[in-house]
Amino acid sequence: MRLLASLSGVFFSVHGLDNGLGNTPQMGYNTWNDFECEGVSEENITKVADKMVDLGLPALGYEYLVIDDCWAHRRGEDGILVPYEKAFPHGMKNVADYVHDKGLKFGIYTDRGRWTCAGRPGGSGYEVTDAQTFVSWGVDYVKTDSCFGPDSLEDPPSPEAIGQYELFRDALNKTGRKVFLALSGWHNWYSPYGKSLANSWRIGYDVRDWRSAWNYAIRVNAFLSEYGGPGGWNDPDMLVGSSPGAAVKMTPQQSRTQFSLWSVMAAPLLLGSSMLSMSSHDLETYTNAEVIAVDQDPLGIQGQIVWENCPLRKRADVHQNQYYDEIPYCQQAWAKPVRDGFALVLLNLDRFQPAKVDFKVYDVCWSSPSSKSCDFFEDASVRDLWSKQELGVRKSIQVTLDPDGASRMFKLVPLKWKASETEPAAMAATKSQRRPALRPQRMGMGPPLILETDTVHFLQEPTEL
Ligand SMILES: *[C@@H]1O[C@H](CO)[C@@H](O)[C@H](O)[C@H]1NC(C)=O
Ligand SMILES: *[C@@H]1O[C@H](CO)[C@@H](O)[C@H](O)[C@H]1NC(C)=O
Repeated sequence: MRLLASLSGVFFSVHGLDNGLGNTPQMGYNTWNDFECEGVSEENITKVADKMVDLGLPALGYEYLVIDDCWAHRRGEDGILVPYEKAFPHGMKNVADYVHDKGLKFGIYTDRGRWTCAGRPGGSGYEVTDAQTFVSWGVDYVKTDSCFGPDSLEDPPSPEAIGQYELFRDALNKTGRKVFLALSGWHNWYSPYGKSLANSWRIGYDVRDWRSAWNYAIRVNAFLSEYGGPGGWNDPDMLVGSSPGAAVKMTPQQSRTQFSLWSVMAAPLLLGSSMLSMSSHDLETYTNAEVIAVDQDPLGIQGQIVWENCPLRKRADVHQNQYYDEIPYCQQAWAKPVRDGFALVLLNLDRFQPAKVDFKVYDVCWSSPSSKSCDFFEDASVRDLWSKQELGVRKSIQVTLDPDGASRMFKLVPLKWKASETEPAAMAATKSQRRPALRPQRMGMGPPLILETDTVHFLQEPTEL
């Protein structure tokens, strides 16, 4: 914290971002996991906009249609970005207008370096021109990537990278239009600085399958919960669907688990399935309003691991986008306090064996401002958010989880809270009231947790699984 305080004086202007956007994590669609570079065109984008409306997605909160890399071809003599004429024969403003007419908001992609990741013109040196150009087209959202720019692969953060993002942030601010800024720097060292720079910031490399979801997102985001909240969110990357038509995909159960976990992590929900040929499974996943409500809960608290039997990990271990070929053979429970209770995801990371999990409902409790809230209940009424069934009032939840990334997701409403409106309100703590190192409380149960300042807690001896 001392380090942050001194660095922030160097890097940041007093005001930071302050554009009033991102009170809840952004929701929408992004072209990358669907089309990658191929097929990013006016024709496909307008079809995607039509389809989003046909599927009823805007009403569920999916408001942004974001074009990722590969739309920009060159800079004109005036320095203004020109799209590929063949793909965008009527220019970008025309596409933005179409998207707006559908009731959606329009997002576009740039990069803080000299080139984008796919080798298109980058924004370095053109921050003011590009901000003005985007705003003149009616852009509502900008994703700004990090390829071909000065970087730093480890802590401490790179002042050059942060400086480039500040230039673009300030250029957007000067246009006077409120534009959602999604920073894509792929390092978790952005997190402590994130809120002053952007409405969301990537914490690791691209999620392209279940293994990269573990390596670059789940494993990393477990340490970053204190940084996300209203106005700015940790971004563990976009959703990956399971529809065959998309460029990037996972198995159906993994992509559903990703959606559940991302909701508990208060992550941006940017659809990455095939929009034009979405499977009924993916559609069912992405239109589950109760799961979406967990992500969009107004308290804006990023969920945490409350129980696991995975090997001990330290925050220092996740700084460099390490990649492990083997996902650990273990189980985790993630929980997020929401306005009227808790959301819980029970997850089996074991690739081959199913797992029996017996979860005591009071283990769900963490981060509550008053320790009283954690002492407060033994029973909770439990609802399965995927089967949409009430499981009644329970002290524990027993499930068998399939291997290879299967999960179950529940909403828990502590019984005592039902009688009184005041206890849930107590959960609406401001960030400052929350302990910096978020730790669960376990009450007289099992072996003690091993806690170090910057370690994810774990049980020394896993309870029976
Ligand atoms: C620009 O920054 C100022 C100061 O931080 C802030 O009050 C204002 O809302 C910002 N404007 C836009 C359009 O983001
Ligand atoms: C639309 O996307 C599909 C799938 O990627 C691609 O094959 C097709 O060429 C695209 N159409 C245009 C006009 O870009």
